[in-house]
Amino acid sequence: MNHIISPSILSADFMNLQSEIEFLNQSQAEWIHIDVMDGVFVPNITFGFPIIKQIRQQTKKVLDVHLMITQPERYISEFKEAGADVLTVHYEACTHLHRTIQEIKANGMKAGVSIVPHVGVSVLEDIIEELDLVLIMSVNPGFGGQKFIENTYKKVKQTSDLIKSSHSKALIQIDGGVNDQNAKKLVDSGADVLVAGNFIFKSENKDEQIRKLL
Ligand code: DX5
Ligand code: ZN
Repeated sequence: MNHIISPSILSADFMNLQSEIEFLNQSQAEWIHIDVMDGVFVPNITFGFPIIKQIRQQTKKVLDVHLMITQPERYISEFKEAGADVLTVHYEACTHLHRTIQEIKANGMKAGVSIVPHVGVSVLEDIIEELDLVLIMSVNPGFGGQKFIENTYKKVKQTSDLIKSSHSKALIQIDGGVNDQNAKKLVDSGADVLVAGNFIFKSENKDEQIRKLL
């Protein structure tokens, strides 16, 4: 399978969000990554339902929504209504993760679970068969433009092994500090979806940057 690029609009120009989405529509990126932060789970606040709904009206690409919020189970149906296709919650934010995953799928979305850099892949052993996606954070969540953590490669391989040794069909997604220096090694290690914010949007030639990740 060819890998998927999911540009993170956290680094987009919000004053020109429509043209940023139009750019993505004609690009080789198949997904659009949307970071929802609540100022509690992470030390930053981003955006919520009204913005996601408007993006949904402008694109047919897969909306890949990454929830960096506490108790995400409170809002599952609202994110579906807003237009999410993939809904990823944090392992660290869910007391009853299994139930939350079932609810995401019952609402007609793909279900993802993310782990932060200090959490090991082994915590996913008893949930992996339920997942459509595992998001390995390669920076501490909260901000774009941070430095990639090298330990991520090991975690990608461990996740790939875990998926192969189970009946899971989960995709492996990497988020944080992804660029043209680490993309190939990540894909060779087993990554299926690469998220990139700064690398794409803080460049003069965004199309070229996406091509460099493919
Ligand atoms: C960080 C977010 C990322 C962020 C990645 O908490 O989850 O999606 O936008 O940005 P870059 O690619 O700039 O590290
Ligand atoms: Zn993200």
